[in-house]
Amino acid sequence: MAIDLKLLKKLTETFGPSGREDEVGKIILDRLTKKGFKPSKDVHGNIKITLGNSGNKILITAHMDEIGIVVNYIDEKGFLKISPIGGVYNEALFGSRILFANGKWGAIFSQTTNPKIKTDFNSLFVDIGAKNKEDAQKQVPIGTFGVFHREMVNLGDNIMAKALDDRVGVYILLKTIDNLKSKKMTNRVTFGFTVQEEFSTLGARALAHSIDPKVAIAVDVTASDDIREKLYLNMTLGNGPTIKIMDSSLISHPKLKNFFIDTAKKEKIKHQLEVLPFGGTDAGAMSLVKNGIPAIGVSIPARYVHTPSEMVNKKDIEGAINLLTTVLTKKDIGDLV
Ligand code: CO
Ligand code: ZN
Repeated sequence: MAIDLKLLKKLTETFGPSGREDEVGKIILDRLTKKGFKPSKDVHGNIKITLGNSGNKILITAHMDEIGIVVNYIDEKGFLKISPIGGVYNEALFGSRILFANGKWGAIFSQTTNPKIKTDFNSLFVDIGAKNKEDAQKQVPIGTFGVFHREMVNLGDNIMAKALDDRVGVYILLKTIDNLKSKKMTNRVTFGFTVQEEFSTLGARALAHSIDPKVAIAVDVTASDDIREKLYLNMTLGNGPTIKIMDSSLISHPKLKNFFIDTAKKEKIKHQLEVLPFGGTDAGAMSLVKNGIPAIGVSIPARYVHTPSEMVNKKDIEGAINLLTTVLTKKDIGDLV
C-alpha cells in the first residue's frame, strides 16, 4: 500500500506544539467521523476511539504534539525572547522560521557571534519585523506559542518534514484503524491520540489512567544512527519498524516484546530491535500508571529528530502499519500478560 502523502503532509504541516494540539486534533476528529466512528475528546484534548467489544482492553497511542517555543519576553527594539517547549535542538535553529499560533512569522537568530554560546536560548531571539516593543507586543504577545514550520518534501524512498515526531505515528494509527475497521477484533483496542508527550506526557498518563488497559503500546519515532555511526545504535532507515527493547523511560514487557518479535518473524515483516540509551515515549509514561501497565513501543527510525527536517523511510511506515494490524488481530494480547 502506497503512502498517502497528502494526509501525511497535512498532518506534519499542521500547527501543534505541546498544549496547543487542537488543529491536529481537528484533522483526526474529521477523518474518523467521516469514516463512521464516534471519536471522543477529553478535557486535555486527547482523542480516542475503540474497536472491538470483547476481550482485554488494549491502549495504543501516538502523540499529536510537536516541540515548539513560547514567547517569554520582548525587548525595547521589538525582538522576542523565547523558551523551548520540549527538547528543542538549539543547534538547528539559526535562520529557522517560527510560525506562531496566530499566523504571524518570525526568524531566529543570535545576539552573539561567540560560537560557544550563540545557540544558547538566552542568546537566541526572534525577529518578527516589528517597529518596536509596543508593535511586537501587539503582534505576538507574551505567552504566544510557536513551531518551527517547514513543508513536507517527498524524497523518493524517504520523506522529510517537521513534526514527523510524532505525526508519522498519528498517520500509522489512522491507517491501522482503516485496516481493522472491517476485521473481527479479539481485543478491545482503544486508539489514543495524545497531547503533551514532548512536555510532560500528561495526555498519555491521563488516558491510560481512565482506560486502565491490560497492555499499552506507543507508536513514535526513534533515533537512527546510519549516517554518523558514532552512537552505535542499531536503528537504520529502511530496515523496518523497530520493536522497542528499551529506552530511558521503559523496559518493554518481556512477554510483549517476545510476542511482537515472534509475530514479525512468522509473518515475515522486516523489523529491527530498538535499544535507545536516551529519550522516552508515551509507552514509558503509561507503564507507570495505576498498578503498572505492561507496555511496549513500536517506532519509526528517524534522522535529525527534533529538527525541522526530520527524515523517515516509507517502507518503515508501511511495515509498522502491517505489524500493528497483524499484532492487534492475531490474538488477545492482554492474555499474554
Ligand atoms: Co519527540
Ligand atoms: Zn515523539
